Amino acid sequence: MIERDIKEIIRNLGDISFEDKTVLVTGGAGFLGSWLCEVLVRQNAKVICLDNLASGLESNVSHLMHEENFKFVKHDISQPILFDEKIDVVMHLASRASPLEFDKFPIQIIKANTLGTWIALGIAKKHRARFLFTSTSEVYGDAEVIPTPETYNGNVNPIGVRGCYDEAKRAGEATCMAYMRQHDLDVRIARIFNTYGPRMRADGVYGRVVPRFIKQALNNEPLTIFGDGKQTRSFCYVTDQIEGLLRLTWFEEGKGEVVNVGNPIEVSVIKLAETIKKITNSDSPLEFHPLPADDPKRRCPDIMRAKKILKWEPKVEFENGLKKTIDWFKSLL
Ligand SMILES: NC(=O)c1ccc[n+]([C@@H]2O[C@H](COP(=O)([O-])OP(=O)(O)OC[C@H]3O[C@@H](n4cnc5c(N)ncnc54)[C@H](O)[C@@H]3O)[C@@H](O)[C@H]2O)c1
Repeated sequence: MIERDIKEIIRNLGDISFEDKTVLVTGGAGFLGSWLCEVLVRQNAKVICLDNLASGLESNVSHLMHEENFKFVKHDISQPILFDEKIDVVMHLASRASPLEFDKFPIQIIKANTLGTWIALGIAKKHRARFLFTSTSEVYGDAEVIPTPETYNGNVNPIGVRGCYDEAKRAGEATCMAYMRQHDLDVRIARIFNTYGPRMRADGVYGRVVPRFIKQALNNEPLTIFGDGKQTRSFCYVTDQIEGLLRLTWFEEGKGEVVNVGNPIEVSVIKLAETIKKITNSDSPLEFHPLPADDPKRRCPDIMRAKKILKWEPKVEFENGLKKTIDWFKSLL
């Protein structure tokens, strides 16, 4: 199932290929990182996957371990590391990303995005490599402008429970721009909006909303909704996201750009829950819990910049992406 999607990404990328490039992917054993590694390996790039397995799983990349052009390095990116081989591209994804992890691991999250970004930028500087930073829609906080363009500077609470993630990503972005201004490093920043698909974890603090609802629906357990469920998110299927990230890394015009990468269709959390119940044929009730502090009310990207610079927009329809993700979760049972 994933193999078919990987082929589809490569087809959609057309002439965009990283063949013979050496690409360091930090956070490469995570959800998005493992998809990137797999596309890059199939494009015959030399891939170094660096991960400390904080929230990622070795099983996400175990099928790549025997490939000659793939290497796994277990390492915490907030600690220094040197590479002898020439690196052409650094894609810095290493960071826990689930809201339930913000409570439990705030210091690790800050370190991965501040110290970790600084160390990853240092590697790129030494090798004169191109650098992609995976930032987040969370830098906008509880946005007052919807759809939110890249020019919106954000409405973030630095001392709230989400501050460890939002503010660390904002510091990461500032560090990238400082390296570009001071060292003329070729940096690109993707502000990723909620992305879902196979290889997301559904367990414990790692379970973000889509995999959590799917697991609950398949087990006929109540779907846990925070707040009244009227808050919106926009959900991007993983193949669209990976294509967007690779396009942003590839195009010359991407240098110094910050680009929203996400699906512009806004969906309420209730609608998400009901759609998942419908597809899984589940009788699960909806169970409402208090809304966590600083939870954004609406989230929807303005993707004009991505359309213009990356010649990209999401293609996978919401229900189709959910069906594929649900099929993948069923295949694990
Ligand atoms: N998936 C989304 O919807 C989304 C949205 C916005 C931003 N992002 C960003 O994209 C990146 C990847 O997210 P994901 O959804 O794949 O999450 P993930 O948790 O599945 O992957 C993150 C990976 O980083 C690794 N990691 C964490 N800290 C590390 C450290 N200090 N050193 C080395 N490795 C470390 C984890 O073990 C994991 O494999 C993150 O930076 C995240 O902030 C993702």
